[in-house]
Amino acid sequence: MGVVGGTGRTKLKVGVLISGGGTNLQALIDACSENSFPVEICVVISNVADVKGLERAEKANIPTAVVSHKDYNGREPFEAAINEVLAQHKVKFVCLAGFMRILTDSFVRKWHDRLINIHPSLLPAFKGLHIHERVIDEGVRFTGCTVHFVRPAMDDGPIIIQAAVPVLPGDTPDILGARVLKSEHKIYPMALKLVAENKARIVGEKVVLLGTETPELALLNPCEG
Ligand code: GAR
Repeated sequence: MGVVGGTGRTKLKVGVLISGGGTNLQALIDACSENSFPVEICVVISNVADVKGLERAEKANIPTAVVSHKDYNGREPFEAAINEVLAQHKVKFVCLAGFMRILTDSFVRKWHDRLINIHPSLLPAFKGLHIHERVIDEGVRFTGCTVHFVRPAMDDGPIIIQAAVPVLPGDTPDILGARVLKSEHKIYPMALKLVAENKARIVGEKVVLLGTETPELALLNPCEG
């Protein structure tokens, strides 16, 4: 534990923030179970008690904490409590995985370039909520998902990986959402690995992918095949 298999390099210490089912968290847990994956999840924090995501973390022997926004008078003290838990677990990098609270500029600034999010659309299209309903209502032919560094504006920030997903005749928001979610589970671990290996560099607020294999990664659709 703590060292990337066979390399002697230290794993990136990550905290994951969730609010619900945690299927993206599960994808990250599964990736981290490989000794060669350069990340160690040190803590999972949920702002909602008794969610399935917490069970997933416990099953993987990852420490958990519930920090409910309802117990705090405003966003700042709520986020201060989250930061305290992250610090206790020596977290260096934060992943939002279905975390449904808007973060303050000050939290986002504190974690600048050390905070990533997954969003179920091809950003910058379809920011916000009820994405799949809106996608179907607009009649677009492709949607998808995005892993991006977080900036203060909602669903904004340098894009690391996207996957395109077709919108098919007869899709309901649930059917389309499930199709998109499958792609989310592929790209979130890929994006986190790139970041942990320092291969996703931000240059002029765009992500440049470094390394011999990675330029192709930026071009292909990770969910093909
Ligand atoms: C995922 O679709 C994720 O992209 C979305 O919430 C879902 C969480 O599912 N996040 C957002 O909409 C954030 N803006 P999960 O709990 O099963 O990972």
